[in-house]
Amino acid sequence: MAIAAHNVTLTLGSDKAPVEILRGVDLEVEAGTSVALLGPSGSGKSSLMAVLAGLERANGGSIHVAGLDFAAMDEDDLARARRGRIGIVLQAFHLLPTMTALENVAVPLELAGIADPFGRAAAELEAVGLGHRLTHYPAQLSGGEQQRVAIARAMASSPAIIFADEPTGNLDTATGHAIIELIFARRAALDATLLIITHDPELAEHCDRVVVMHDGRIEKRA
Ligand SMILES: Nc1ncnc2c1ncn2[C@@H]1O[C@H](COP(=O)(O)OP(=O)(O)OP(=O)(O)O)[C@@H](O)[C@H]1O
Ligand SMILES: [Mg+2]
Repeated sequence: MAIAAHNVTLTLGSDKAPVEILRGVDLEVEAGTSVALLGPSGSGKSSLMAVLAGLERANGGSIHVAGLDFAAMDEDDLARARRGRIGIVLQAFHLLPTMTALENVAVPLELAGIADPFGRAAAELEAVGLGHRLTHYPAQLSGGEQQRVAIARAMASSPAIIFADEPTGNLDTATGHAIIELIFARRAALDATLLIITHDPELAEHCDRVVVMHDGRIEKRA
């Protein structure tokens, strides 16, 4: 299993006004498969992804991702473990504005201690069709191009698992389709596991499996 999560709970907010966001999530994802995560706004999809990607700590339950036992790790361990194992693509691209496209992809590789970070970053940007935009800053790139940089950044370390949270949410339909094709193509090339949050039923059909969240839980399917 690439992901094995059992009875995961997450409560945020203040002590006086706690909000139960994840209320006992069970999810298993086989290595090398793709899963679409659907569900109404506020049902907890992004929160679940944050917990599975090691960006947020769960309050309870067990989480094993890419062979790591998250419960046994502190936040520093998690941050270190994420590098090279887990790639994350978000709706807002979160590129660093003061760095070029090449630097945005290369610097995380450098931090992860991966060999030849700039050569590798250039090759990955080439693979997403941005070989001619290496020295552009995010503000000089279109939304679709910025998302390509974010995809290159997420994939450059050949992660075993890719998380994507509405990666086409800020893009027009045609650009969005191209981005989805790119994510699936890069996933196939890396033989990675993919968990993708989407509101698009057509995209969900592209995935091996669809799971639906409701009110902090994953719907049981017959
Ligand atoms: N830091 C926080 N403190 C309190 N409540 C929070 C916090 N972050 C998220 N929530 C609440 O948790 C619930 C789930 O949020 P989440 O972002 O996971 O939903 P989602 O399914 O991704 O929705 P969307 O489709 O709109 O992106 C929401 O009701 C949200 O208001
Ligand atoms: Mg969300």
